[in-house]
Amino acid sequence: MDGKKKKFYIHTFGCQMNFHDSEKISGVLSESGFSEASDGEDADLIIFNTCSIREKAEQKFLSELGRIRNLKRHKPGLKIAVAGCVAQQMGGKLLKKAPYVDYLIGPQNLHALKGISPLKPIKDMPALSIAENPELAFMELPAARGKKPGAWVSIMYGCDNFCTYCIVPHTRGREVCRPWESIRQEVEGLAAEGFKEVTFLGQNVNSYSSGLDFRGLLAMADRIDGIKRIRFVTSHPRDLSVALIQAMGSIGKLCEHIHLPLQSGSDTILARMNRRYSFGDYREKIERLRRQAPGIAITTDIIAGFPGETDSDHEATMAALKEIEYDGIFAFKYSPRPGTAASIFGGQVPDSVRSRRLNEILALQDEITARKNMSLVGSVQEVMVEGPSEKNTGKLTGRTRTNKIVNFDTGKKDPGKNISPGTIVNLKIIRAGRHSLEGKVPEE
Ligand code: 5AD
Ligand code: SF4
Repeated sequence: MDGKKKKFYIHTFGCQMNFHDSEKISGVLSESGFSEASDGEDADLIIFNTCSIREKAEQKFLSELGRIRNLKRHKPGLKIAVAGCVAQQMGGKLLKKAPYVDYLIGPQNLHALKGISPLKPIKDMPALSIAENPELAFMELPAARGKKPGAWVSIMYGCDNFCTYCIVPHTRGREVCRPWESIRQEVEGLAAEGFKEVTFLGQNVNSYSSGLDFRGLLAMADRIDGIKRIRFVTSHPRDLSVALIQAMGSIGKLCEHIHLPLQSGSDTILARMNRRYSFGDYREKIERLRRQAPGIAITTDIIAGFPGETDSDHEATMAALKEIEYDGIFAFKYSPRPGTAASIFGGQVPDSVRSRRLNEILALQDEITARKNMSLVGSVQEVMVEGPSEKNTGKLTGRTRTNKIVNFDTGKKDPGKNISPGTIVNLKIIRAGRHSLEGKVPEE
């Protein structure tokens, strides 16, 4: 095997941040001379990029890891690296539990991968790279990106908020912003490569501040030729400033969609979560957003069954969903995470109650999403084409500025040939489902 080009395979769990980190892992390894394997069986190095936000994500990884153990028995040269939040959180405990793991790489130490070489036995890298890293080195890594037209761009790392349920500040460390000049260079490079859309990524992008504030950063990206759309995730309601709300209606390329996690509609629970806003504050910001950018899509995250949540707190969340009428939500059962404040709060809610509340939330939102999507039937939407639709190869798929998926028929045999990813088409919406819309090119 040695002397031959070695191959890596990455298995990613979790959020967009993690998927983008995997693009960086892939970029670093490709630069070091590795090539990407089509599956784990074919690889010399398997990397798990892990997530520990909820117990379920962690368990999914641990069961995958167990399966790989057998693979390693048959292929002794195989190296296994665990990157991401579980590596950071479990540290040496993971090596004890799974001694066949060769390396741990925390989210702030991806650059440690630069130390491994494909031509020698992979052994030069330290087994544990999980120190809290205040350096900027880990930010400036070359990403091997996926398909056009969209690209993720990290603008900040970590989080300082310490919401009491959340493990992120413990695994991804304190908030560090990337200098805006280097963000600009990256976006200009992406535009030159033919990317048409950028999504700025960070745990709490509204608090970006490094020479420019977040609004300034958006205005900078707006001026870069070739980029047609700008998006961002994720925002903290408390840091959503009036200036940014104004930007939503005035920066031309900035898409009319915001993901603004509410978590709960009850002020008592919001306080126990350390969110530092009330539902009234939140509602006011939504009203302003809708005034500034009419038709803006609003999505959110909800946690069901946080410790101490009573039936009436849950009802307050249901009422908030009815009032705000989100375009879509991600809802989760509360999951106690080791080391977080809420994991030792009194009043832990039984699993059966958490499940029931979650199901009520999801059923209510399903109705709202369907209704909202239906209301778009008959309208004309600006859609950026992404490529052939996954389910029906005769169709193309794309997204509205409000981030809704639209599938459409071009009437041509091989639509991918005629309309390339990144093209913007105006489509009339003719049908609506819960997860996607169907459009057609309006007759002239
Ligand atoms: N349990 C359940 N959901 C959680 N989230 C974060 N931590 C937890 C937890 N311990 C949810 C929040 C957050 C989203 C990314 O994950 O809603 O916004
Ligand atoms: Fe977690 Fe709160 Fe930071 Fe989001 S803002 S990552 S929920 S601590």
